[in-house]
Amino acid sequence: MKIYVVYDSENGHTEVLAKSVAEGAGQVDGAEVLLRHVRDAQVRELDDVDAIIWGCPGHFGTISAGLKTWIDKLGYTWAKGKLIGKVGAAFCTTATVHGGIEMTLWNLITPMLHNGMIIVGLPGNIPENVMYGSYYGCGITCPVEESADAPPNLPTESDLALGRALGRRVAEIAGKLA
Ligand SMILES: Cc1cc2nc3c(=O)[nH]c(=O)nc-3n(C[C@H](O)[C@H](O)[C@H](O)COP(=O)(O)O)c2cc1C
Repeated sequence: MKIYVVYDSENGHTEVLAKSVAEGAGQVDGAEVLLRHVRDAQVRELDDVDAIIWGCPGHFGTISAGLKTWIDKLGYTWAKGKLIGKVGAAFCTTATVHGGIEMTLWNLITPMLHNGMIIVGLPGNIPENVMYGSYYGCGITCPVEESADAPPNLPTESDLALGRALGRRVAEIAGKLA
């Protein structure tokens, strides 16, 4: 089955997380993963995939403009019901713990529900999630760097384990449905 991972990222934090999601999906037997920065993603590519995982940096508690602009190209896809029954999941990064992670994940999930997709989150019995509580998808905090030339505070290994867990879970469920 095909898993489509599309993400927005201005400074690389969400991109690293997106790669971990794609890696996790690719660990499932039979999964073919398509990973796209939103600038390279084509709406028509969604027609024949089994699952879509999209993510972005949280901007003021909601979807970044880059990804939202792309999602808003789904009108024809919605009208034709092309995403109905496909598996969906979301991921995001924000700079602060209380900076709107869950709001952003919910806002990412909403258009999936409008398109008839089957939403997958991360339950508490997934080992990587026991202490994290990222139930709505994968939401990661990447604190603001101390200065413009400081190395980026990219997702940690624990964060990436969570991203892989989300990708694996989506691919496993998409495989069962397929
Ligand atoms: C316009 C804008 C709005 C943002 N709003 C928030 C916010 O409300 N809460 C927060 O914690 N971080 C906020 N951030 C920070 C980003 O979510 C955070 O730095 C993210 O990890 C960047 O990911 P990227 O490097 O993939 O673009 C905002 C950043 C920008 C540019």
